[in-house]
Amino acid sequence: MRAIAAVLFATVFALPTLAAEAVNPETPTGRGALRGGATKSYMVAAATSYAAEAGASIIKAGGNAVDAAVAVELVLSMTEPQSSGVGGGGFMLFWDQAGKQMHMYDGREKAPAAAIEKRFFRPDGQLMGRIEAIVGGKSVGVPGVMRMLELAHRKNGKLPWARLFEPAIKIADEGFPMGARLNYILNNDTYLPLWEPTKSFFYGADGKAKPVGTLMKNPAFAVVLRRMAAEGTSALYTGQIAADVVKTVTTAARNASDMTVADMAAYEAKERDPICGHYRGKKVCTIAPPSSGGISVLQTLGMLERFDMAAMGPESVAAYNAIAEAGRLALADRAMYVADPDFFPVPVKELIADSYIAGRAKLIDPKARMKDAPAGELTLRKAMNLYAAESPEIPATTHFSIVDKQGNAVAMTATIESGFGSKLMSNGFMLNNELTDFSYDDIAQGRTVANRVQGSKRPRSAMSPTLIFDKDGKLEIVIGSPGGPAIPAYVAKTIVALVDWKLPPAEAVGTANIVTGGDALNLEAGTFLEKQAGAFTALGHTVRIDSSGSGLHAIRIMPDGTLMGGADPRREGAVKGE
Ligand code: DON
Repeated sequence: MRAIAAVLFATVFALPTLAAEAVNPETPTGRGALRGGATKSYMVAAATSYAAEAGASIIKAGGNAVDAAVAVELVLSMTEPQSSGVGGGGFMLFWDQAGKQMHMYDGREKAPAAAIEKRFFRPDGQLMGRIEAIVGGKSVGVPGVMRMLELAHRKNGKLPWARLFEPAIKIADEGFPMGARLNYILNNDTYLPLWEPTKSFFYGADGKAKPVGTLMKNPAFAVVLRRMAAEGTSALYTGQIAADVVKTVTTAARNASDMTVADMAAYEAKERDPICGHYRGKKVCTIAPPSSGGISVLQTLGMLERFDMAAMGPESVAAYNAIAEAGRLALADRAMYVADPDFFPVPVKELIADSYIAGRAKLIDPKARMKDAPAGELTLRKAMNLYAAESPEIPATTHFSIVDKQGNAVAMTATIESGFGSKLMSNGFMLNNELTDFSYDDIAQGRTVANRVQGSKRPRSAMSPTLIFDKDGKLEIVIGSPGGPAIPAYVAKTIVALVDWKLPPAEAVGTANIVTGGDALNLEAGTFLEKQAGAFTALGHTVRIDSSGSGLHAIRIMPDGTLMGGADPRREGAVKGE
């Protein structure tokens, strides 16, 4: 441990201080410079500097990590509208330092009660194309994130609810300058310019996205914020705003939905038990179903624990091959066994049992690609005649990590699923397309698909907010990422970078990303992996060089209490605190 600390402390001083950090150096694509910092008392790492600043201001004013999370998510709703917001869902892990308790909150969207298995089939009986299913009303799930934040705040918050809305209301009233990344994404979107209100909101008369620097005010959202601040989230889930959401999805030009105001009013966030495992003597706690992500993170780390990742080192083909192969095995189990636990008996204990993971790890050879990476043979598979079904996703989503002055922490991942969700906007916020996270085709031929569409069900997620505790039970790492099915791979690899490669968070979140999905291996462009493509081909992989959709935001609490943070160089985020 002393050696780890020495390496980390040496690096603290090589990192930019918070004061020196640029306010909003956004990069439209690819990887920017490393972003990180160190503080003594509290820290917020989030995907926009406005959101990180909002969270930090709430803690400075006496709020705790849950209070800050509310402010961060509301500001992300406006400043990163492509990724998450009040029209979407999310998962939160909260560590209560005084009570030594962990809380998991589930704000996953739900299907309307009337949803049927063949939701994404055309009237002629043909399965819709991927984009065809995403864009429009039918993909929109009943949003969950605000109900979840309200529940978490009621149980664990400190400052008055209305106070948490102040930073977002200020931005909605006064605007924030359009950044280069948002501008770039808007100029590459096919659907938002096609209809109102997104056309006028995001684009100028010339049809181009409003120029970088344009002050983006959001008066419609300011009304929503003020009402929620005063009345609680029932202002969103009942009455005029809920009716507006329902009208937007049921009258959408594409894929009119069957969602009702009763679906909105009935939404409830849930508190569930998180799941925990271990890595190199540390306790790793993460999210339970309906996300598959936590199971995958624990499985991946459990398999990698059997290899000497430290000796292989951070720029090693063998280490990355082991990460990729463990990821393939984890994805296979996800496709077979994970769905909404209120609808399907997910065999969580079996999937994360040490003996089971040890058997799976034996399938991995760091020096070769295994031919097939099948799901494990649990009894449930035969008993229920299960069929493995994937649910592909397109980049969006956000993760933020918070540690407050008392040592409480929040790891929260939030999403509207793909970029700008369903592409529908209501009252100044984007509506998710989370229902395409169901496995919705019908190739199972009579076998049971755990994650099939069912009324009032939550679609399976991969989001994996994670908290790690050291050997003495002290909170050490707060981490998570967007990236769809690649999320567990991003998170697990970054944990390896922190724990085995002893990198500080700003460097760990910037280490090369490798992703398996389908038959090809994605190697991140512009990293050592690209140069090593031939070596991976020689191991038997079909290789694709690609940019990566991670958005890792991590905080590590050092033995002396120093907080070290890292914001993913592939996004525009920041680390704030004191
Ligand atoms: O819940 C999920 O797993 C997905 N809807 C998350 C989507 C995502 O992370 C897209 N990524 N960049």
